[in-house]
Amino acid sequence: PEGDYEKGKKIFKQRCLQCHVVDSNATKTGPTLNGVIGRKSGTVPGFDYSPANKSKGVVWTRETLFEYLLNPKKYIPGTKMVFAGLKKADERADLIKFIEVEAAK
Ligand code: HEM
Repeated sequence: PEGDYEKGKKIFKQRCLQCHVVDSNATKTGPTLNGVIGRKSGTVPGFDYSPANKSKGVVWTRETLFEYLLNPKKYIPGTKMVFAGLKKADERADLIKFIEVEAAK
């Protein structure tokens, strides 16, 4: 199901923005999410990934993000991303909708 962009924007601000931008190539605690859809995991140039994230070897798509964001530490054991996950599927769908639109700008 398609997520709701406006709801996703709020979730991004509340849960992700302290560590990630999506609208520029800036590095915060986490790598930029600009261009993340279709990108191989662990490949933002110059970002100091954990070995686990660097070697995961997935392509970030709507589907892989949906699974990752449910429980990042389960999807990438050893990740240094400190984030418990978003348990509600509708919230993940909303957030991914927002990221899809913004990351492609
Ligand atoms: C990594 C998304 C919340 C810090 C990542 C990656 C994604 C992502 C897709 C993998 C990037 C890649 O492979 O290039 C999100 C989303 C969030 C969120 C959508 C909100 C729902 C956070 C928060 C923090 C954080 C709150 C900081 C407390 C990091 C770090 C990494 C990372 C440090 C690199 C992990 C590693 O190298 O092991 N995030 N993140 N993220 N994120 Fe987040």
